[in-house]
Amino acid sequence: MAVSKKNQLIGLDIGSHSIKVVEIDDGKKGRVLKNFGAIGLPPDAIVEGSIKEMDIVSSAIKTLLQNLKVKNKHVATSISGFSVIVKKITVSSKEESELEATIQDEAEQYIPFDINEVNLDFDILSGEEEPVEGEEGEKQGPDQMEVMLVAAKKDIIDDYVSLLQVAGLAPVVLDVDAFALQNAFEMSAEATEGCYALVNVGAEELGINAIKNGISLFARDSSFGGSQITEAIMSQFKLSFEDAEKMKLGGAKIGKEKAALEEIFTSVVSEWVQEIKRALDFVASTYADETIEKILVSGGACRIPGFQKYLKLETDIPVEELNPFANLTVDEKLFDPKYLKHMAPQAAVAVGLALRSIGDK
Ligand SMILES: Nc1ncnc2c1ncn2[C@@H]1O[C@H](COP(=O)(O)OP(=O)(O)OP(=O)(O)O)[C@@H](O)[C@H]1O
Ligand SMILES: [Mg+2]
Repeated sequence: MAVSKKNQLIGLDIGSHSIKVVEIDDGKKGRVLKNFGAIGLPPDAIVEGSIKEMDIVSSAIKTLLQNLKVKNKHVATSISGFSVIVKKITVSSKEESELEATIQDEAEQYIPFDINEVNLDFDILSGEEEPVEGEEGEKQGPDQMEVMLVAAKKDIIDDYVSLLQVAGLAPVVLDVDAFALQNAFEMSAEATEGCYALVNVGAEELGINAIKNGISLFARDSSFGGSQITEAIMSQFKLSFEDAEKMKLGGAKIGKEKAALEEIFTSVVSEWVQEIKRALDFVASTYADETIEKILVSGGACRIPGFQKYLKLETDIPVEELNPFANLTVDEKLFDPKYLKHMAPQAAVAVGLALRSIGDK
């Protein structure tokens, strides 16, 4: 398979509700949006991050790429919380060569999965020069270093690799949703100095990543998302998945259902807000000096009525939608600005992935 010019990859976000693809041309004229699209998946095709219907998902990917005439076969994709653990740990400083063995040994205590069933990866966050606060708030000694540990379940990685191969693609980068999102934030934000919280509310997953000057302080994914609302509507009003989605998104006529619907919104949204608040309270108590300047929300479900307002009210932190297209050049003859605006929250992870290039891990 010929490697595309400029080492560019297509960003493919395989979510449980829909698959998103983004291509970005990074050339003399800066970053230009070359392709963007999404295709829906039936509710049982991907459950809790694991691919249940390989054929359905791979043909959805093929259809999406064919429709958009995507030629590049080299893909950056990502996995998330159900199958990956991201944790900051402190170890004593070591030569890079020794570090791997140390981390392998130490990792076991931090990982809730069987160590033999995971692939470990790590990134050195700080060395001796710059002591920073550790996870528990303790000052880090001069011979300590901070490492971001990433442990992903092998069977899930294998599934994603096979899925892409079945779809005729070459997996090149396997990222984590939280980091792809961070990437999209850094590319699109006006300012990135200081502390920010990135919150992604998808269909089945709520991801929180608190970052400071481009380094993750704390990241967690939990099982919340827009599907909770769809499911509650399905059972309350005895509707199919499709009709419940329609009602949720305001596409169905509602009369006497209005009050019950609003109650569903309110109760689910307040669960999300409590979850986010817990995480941010933890960050505040661990890193006493840091104040979060802004919460950037993304993921399709961040548009559920009332969510952003309630989040701001409860945390007293400004809340804004992350617009991953903000610093990309967009030809309005090729992309309908209204469509991009509508899809922006759902596109964030895919944009972050498309910014990766061959040679990245
Ligand atoms: N305008 C909107 N208002 C409210 N909810 C929306 C809107 N648009 C999409 N959603 C909901 O957002 C969810 C899809 O978001 P997203 O594409 O970020 O999820 P996903 O990446 O497919 O899923 P996950 O990452 O959780 O596996 C669905 O539950 C969908 O109903
Ligand atoms: Mg998602």
